[in-house]
Amino acid sequence: MYLRPKLSAMIGANTLQEFVVARQAEFAGATGDLSRLLTDIGTAAKMVNRHVNRAGLSGILGTHQENGSGTRNVQGEAQQKLDVYADDTFNRVLGSCLKVGGIVSEEQPDIIHVDHTERGQGKGYGKYVVCIDPLDGSSNVDVNISVGTIFGIHKRRSPLTGPATPQDFMQPAKDLVAAGYVLYGSSTMLVYSTGCGVNGFTFDPSIGEFFLSHPNMKFPEESTVYSINDANLDKSIPGVKPYVKDCRRRGLTARYTGALVADFHRNLIQGGIYMYPGTDAKPGGKLRMLYEAQPLAFLANQAGGKTRCHHQDLLHALPTSLHQRTPLFTGHPSEIDRLVQALEAQKATVLNPITQGRKHAPACRRLVMCNPTSCPHDISSPSSLGSASALAQLKTRSSFQML
Ligand code: AHG
Ligand code: MN
Ligand code: MN
Repeated sequence: MYLRPKLSAMIGANTLQEFVVARQAEFAGATGDLSRLLTDIGTAAKMVNRHVNRAGLSGILGTHQENGSGTRNVQGEAQQKLDVYADDTFNRVLGSCLKVGGIVSEEQPDIIHVDHTERGQGKGYGKYVVCIDPLDGSSNVDVNISVGTIFGIHKRRSPLTGPATPQDFMQPAKDLVAAGYVLYGSSTMLVYSTGCGVNGFTFDPSIGEFFLSHPNMKFPEESTVYSINDANLDKSIPGVKPYVKDCRRRGLTARYTGALVADFHRNLIQGGIYMYPGTDAKPGGKLRMLYEAQPLAFLANQAGGKTRCHHQDLLHALPTSLHQRTPLFTGHPSEIDRLVQALEAQKATVLNPITQGRKHAPACRRLVMCNPTSCPHDISSPSSLGSASALAQLKTRSSFQML
């Protein structure tokens, strides 16, 4: 049965484009350049969405091959056919947007410089740079589980007369002018923020438009979910395991799809925390700073959440290379605070060989090996071992069971 919507609900039906343009008015002196860029991202997302939905029918499942062998990205990871298609599509659409001066993509080793004069399209280089994970969770494609796209947009700092520099991309997440993601799931959604809250749009394939469906998204007060790759738990930095035990004790349930976008999105709607910590083998974690962690940190902050890379607020961390990895903890602030408390308690423990009878060297080494600039942990100097402050921190661990 068809129920007629109320007239007021129909008037409120905003397309992505209408919404972006209406929101532009909130910024004094806005020129519409960012609006244009955001609607172009929406266009590219529609193109990728079409391919993702038909992947099983159009022969684009599986790994991308060149000269008879599988290709790998700059990080040595096998590229799926859809990784390559999504990368080509976003680069093509963004490259023809006159507002874009450069792109850093997970699938490309170097900055893609966009010179509009050379392309005969306009003058020189655009004022924005885009960091993008064109297809996040791409190993899910072949098994028909959700995947996504993640993007972050910075305003360039270098003069627009020349190509974009690495420093244009390597800005802290707090300085992003916009960030968002597309989730190709049971329905396709585009979620973005320009620093005035987070809004979600659902794609109507019959009309070919994104419509505002989730205005002003916020983490719910009550957290119900924690997300972590359980196989990494025993190897994770000290503190994560006691925190997870605490989550279980409080009745949170575990959910993990292996696609960061999907896990983040679910936790944003249902309440919870996502964790990809450093491990023994990978002290810097797995996720990429510029086009995975930073955009989600920006969104989480706008949705009332917090994000950490181990012992530092990720919003303020300064990246040091284009493809660097970072540990990532993001979600409801009270969960992040509890996790930080557990990390601090463990840090105090492992740094204090007297109280636990442990050697401090292995644990210290694990912490020190993380990139100290992108994730400058508060690493106690040897002289602080056994200090009053370390002992005081130990007392704060009372609510966590030490393993
Ligand atoms: P990508 O497909 O862009 O390389 O990203 C995969 C990432 C991320 O989406 C996910 O959260 C994580 O890898 C899963 O890693 P594990 O399989 O190690 O849990
Ligand atoms: Mn990814
Ligand atoms: Mn990817």
